[in-house]
Amino acid sequence: MSERILPPNQEPRDWRAFYEASDRSAKTADRRLSRVFVNDYAMHWSDSPHATEMGELKSFSMLHQETLSLLGYFARRSQGAVLELGAYLGGATISIAKALQQSGGGPQITVEVGGAHPTHPDYPTDDILRDLKRNIKKFNVEPIVNLVEGWSDAPEVVAQVERLLNGRKIDLLFIDSDGRTRRDMDIYGKFLSQDCIIVLDDFLVAVADAADKEVGVRNWVAWATETGLVTDLGVHQWATWVGQYNGRGDR
Ligand SMILES: C[S@@+](CC[C@H](N)C(=O)[O-])C[C@H]1O[C@@H](n2cnc3c(N)ncnc32)[C@H](O)[C@@H]1O
Repeated sequence: MSERILPPNQEPRDWRAFYEASDRSAKTADRRLSRVFVNDYAMHWSDSPHATEMGELKSFSMLHQETLSLLGYFARRSQGAVLELGAYLGGATISIAKALQQSGGGPQITVEVGGAHPTHPDYPTDDILRDLKRNIKKFNVEPIVNLVEGWSDAPEVVAQVERLLNGRKIDLLFIDSDGRTRRDMDIYGKFLSQDCIIVLDDFLVAVADAADKEVGVRNWVAWATETGLVTDLGVHQWATWVGQYNGRGDR
């Protein structure tokens, strides 16, 4: 009996054609995503038609192009709202917005508390909100991004997000803020669609080095996958976890 060792997706493939077909069918494709598909879409980003744009966004984003590229696809596939918690200078915000602009989806709601990070080694800023707004304008996505200023758990922020949702479900949730995943899920879980894609940054670090941020993300993922609340779709560069909600309502 012969056993196949290489998975089929390791055979040579026209990756550009893969991206074009995947983007074209994003809205109508199977609502459940496979790990192999998500892996392929992440890994070959440099062959995608979005590669140049991902490079541009990378110049002010803490995220890897793999993640920026995946977020674009998840936004393109979205049949509801997109909620982002923690934008910084807007790399992910703009990747999502550009995809929604092309697909006609949305709304996009981005929550950012602001502040300053003048000593950041790569992306310093003395005013996060000012620079975020400047980037949103520069990339012509002002009409797409609903920016909500404040802490994600502040009652007025939650109320504003709910108003913007206006009864629509969140079909893509991206959190890259302070790692309090359980707190954010307690607040926003009830708004998730049945097959919502959940993307959490800061997943994978050695526990000895971990700030509370990473421990919070990793703990939630361990619990949520074990209880079947989410399906694990892999960890992508740099330590960004992707999963899909298994629609059980209010968690
Ligand atoms: C790691 S940065 C986000 C990086 C961004 N995704 C990118 O593409 O570069 C985290 C951001 O989350 C914001 N933040 C942290 N905790 C927050 C919270 N609870 N609510 C809203 N914003 C928060 C910080 O001000 C910061 O701008």
